This record gives sequence, C-alpha cells and structure tokens, in this order.
Amino acid sequence: MIFTINYSLYLVFTLFICCDGMATNQVWNQQTKLQKRPWVKSRLTRAVYLRKLIIGNSPASIIDHPYQVLLMINGKPKCGGSIIRSNFILTAAHCIHNVKVHQLQIRAGSTDRTLGGQIREIQEMYYPDDKFNIDTYDFDIAILKLVEHLVFNEAVASIELPTPGREIKEHDMAKATGWGMTDPLESTLPKILQVVKLPQISTSSCRKYYGNLISERMFCAGYEEGGKDTCLGDSGGPLVANNTLVGITSWGGDICAQAGKPGVFTKISFFREFIDDIINNKII
Ligand code: ARG
Repeated sequence: MIFTINYSLYLVFTLFICCDGMATNQVWNQQTKLQKRPWVKSRLTRAVYLRKLIIGNSPASIIDHPYQVLLMINGKPKCGGSIIRSNFILTAAHCIHNVKVHQLQIRAGSTDRTLGGQIREIQEMYYPDDKFNIDTYDFDIAILKLVEHLVFNEAVASIELPTPGREIKEHDMAKATGWGMTDPLESTLPKILQVVKLPQISTSSCRKYYGNLISERMFCAGYEEGGKDTCLGDSGGPLVANNTLVGITSWGGDICAQAGKPGVFTKISFFREFIDDIINNKII
C-alpha cells in the first residue's frame, strides 16, 4: 500500500515535471527562437539567463512624455523622435538614411504604438551639412518638418533644448523612452511606450568603453554592469534630463544591455545652432 501510494505519487510527480516542462519549452522556443540555444533548457536556467539580459525598462504613459513620437517608414514602426516645435521633430539621421520624405509619417500623442494620437506627413528633412556618416554614426541627427502642425494637448507637447555647448553632467540621471525591443532575444516590439532611467556618461568617460568610436558629438548613458539600455527601435528617440532633451538614441553594444556597453546618444547641445537655424526659418 505504502509502496503503491508512493509509486503513484512518483508517477504523478514525474508526469507533471515532464509535461509542464515540455509545454513551456515549446512555447518558449516559438516565442524566442531559442532552438539554436539547446543549453537554455531548464526554467531556472532560462530565468537566470533572462534576468541578466532583460532591458530594465517599464511601461510608460505618453502623458508623462508628451514630446515622444513614433517614426514610421511605409507605415511600419522604425524609430522614435521628439517634438521640438508644433511642426518640427528631432530624430536620428540613420533612421531616415536613404528614405524619401513621402515614405515617412509620425504618430504623436499615443501610448499605444499601433493606434490613436495624431498622424502627420513630412514636408522636408534636414541634416547638418550632410555630414552624417553611416559607418561611424557621427552627426546622427535630423530634423523633420511636418506638412501640418500638431495640436498640442496633455499628450502632445514640445520639449526644451539644452543651452548651446552645454556639457553632459556625469552621473546625472536621464530617462530614455521608446517602443524599441524590450528583450534582446525577441524581435517583437512592445505595443506600450517604455521608459528606462540611466545615468549619463560624458564623452571622454565613454571612450573607456568604446575608444575613439565616440566623437565629440556623442555621449553615453547606462550602467557599467549593464542590465538597462535602449535597444533596436528606440533610435531617434529622446534622452531627457531635468526636463531638457539632452540626447538622441543613436547606437550601442551589439546585444543591448550588455555590461561595459552603455547606450550611445547624439549630443544635442553640440547642434543648437543648426537646430535654431532650421526651426527659426533661417534656412529655407
Ligand atoms: N541603432 C538602434 C536603432 O536604430 C538603437 C540601438 C541602441 N542600441 C543599444 N545597444 N543601446 O534603433
């Protein structure tokens, strides 16, 4: 009797472990394309693996980041951007490289990446003296002029720019927002806007991580140990400190949130004159 109970308990137990594991493994494999990683087997190993890599962000509301826009190419999400005037958006040059204005659209005023808010077409795009370098991502900044002004409300507003030449305050916290990837192993984008808080790293300090890949027009934000970062799809979007737009998400480590590979941002204070000339209509 005792033996029977023990044996059936053993059977139930083994069945539970085996089948539960199998089912989650199947879903897991479908979801994360981990078939090529047979070593990510047990649920515990998976949890530890993900804990290390997850890009420590959390869902956000557009009401708290009303300057954030989504940039779409041929109707598909591509990058982020920031509202600097009711008819001007700041983004990254690499987001619109080799793209024609009629292919571009922005969505403002929506927490949801896929619906709502205000959609606008683009009339003109500007780069600083066509200096953007696709190999180095130097001068990774672009301004989009909208065909029609945005209507400002609690979910749509512009953000302040830093004073010209203002240097990055090392260790000062900043927040990056966007609809970029939230899991370095997943290629799907979140539906809801995400925010991550990161300490700023000056241009010279960031050279300790990337050497001379960091130009005078770049700085970084992130943690030495990794774990929190921007990722694919966040580019062009804002990095804000003290209610000021200090950076544009530009590039980073091949795998997002890796230790010793902080996110790299375009330094907006370097480009104040360029931005002012365009938004104040000095360049036609
Ligand atoms: N270049 C990327 C984009 O186009 C942003 C990459 C940020 N990468 C990183 N590891 N922080 O969306």
